Amino acid sequence: MRRFEKKVAIVTGAGNGIGLAIAHAFAAEGAHVVVADINEASGARAAAEIEAAGGRAISVPTDVADEDRVRAMVETTLAQLGRIDILVNNAGVVVHKLLIDLDRSEWDRQLAVQLTGPFLTSKHVARHMIARGGGGKIVNISSVSAVMGRVKGGAHCASKAGLTLLTKVLAMELAPYRINVNAVAPGLIDVPAQRDEQNLSEAYKTRYLQEVPLGRMGQPSDIAHMVLFLASDDADWITGQLYLVDGGLMAGHYSFQGVHDFTMLHGH
Ligand SMILES: NC(=O)c1ccc[n+]([C@@H]2O[C@H](COP(=O)([O-])OP(=O)(O)OC[C@H]3O[C@@H](n4cnc5c(N)ncnc54)[C@H](O)[C@@H]3O)[C@@H](O)[C@H]2O)c1
Repeated sequence: MRRFEKKVAIVTGAGNGIGLAIAHAFAAEGAHVVVADINEASGARAAAEIEAAGGRAISVPTDVADEDRVRAMVETTLAQLGRIDILVNNAGVVVHKLLIDLDRSEWDRQLAVQLTGPFLTSKHVARHMIARGGGGKIVNISSVSAVMGRVKGGAHCASKAGLTLLTKVLAMELAPYRINVNAVAPGLIDVPAQRDEQNLSEAYKTRYLQEVPLGRMGQPSDIAHMVLFLASDDADWITGQLYLVDGGLMAGHYSFQGVHDFTMLHGH
């Protein structure tokens, strides 16, 4: 079943990682995908990869934190493809530092890309959707860091927590125009950028996975499946929600169970 035939989907930060998987998944189901990444080389490579796989994609480089460039990206998309049906706000930057060591500029950039960015792209895409007569889907890529503090992730957590309420307010304001706005919060996902992180040593990974009921890291496709559902007609009556896709991480902490429960879990 190809759910997105004749639809145009913008995916920000689709040059790599989770966004790239989301872009591939939309293209495989018939959408014409706009790869909107700040890294021109990554964006062009992603669009070429999608076309080589039989899909349709264009690269329109943008910086989601820069309103003029966002406006230009939306205008280029409309000039080339004529419409926008779906927006996925996925672009992200992470700096791992304690708040007492975090520079003001590093704080500002994370907030600008991960919170101001989704505001700017949603604003300009929604204006087009409304002018066209309404209808559309916006999906924001959040994180479990929206609901759980993470040491050395202060700006990241704050931006993702802010994104939750941005999602809810956008959902309320855009509902009259049949534009649904939801967020997906991934747990730890196996992408090249994560593998490069200093803190993703084997020891860290083993300890982390002890807290994941389903016992493995997520794959980018695990996130793409939820994003495509929320962008599909099947999700027409869902808006303003945050969906955790985390292997069960946020269900509870194994390390905080009573001894009795823990031993039961391991069958002793
Ligand atoms: N990987 C994980 O474990 C994980 C977990 C939870 C949430 N997330 C979220 O998923 C999203 C994607 O993360 P990822 O791991 O795939 O990262 P990634 O670094 O692999 O990809 C991010 C992409 O965003 C692009 N980008 C950065 N700044 C941009 C800007 N200003 N404008 C446009 N594009 C920009 C980068 O060039 C890159 O291609 C992020 O929002 C991240 O917070 C990731």
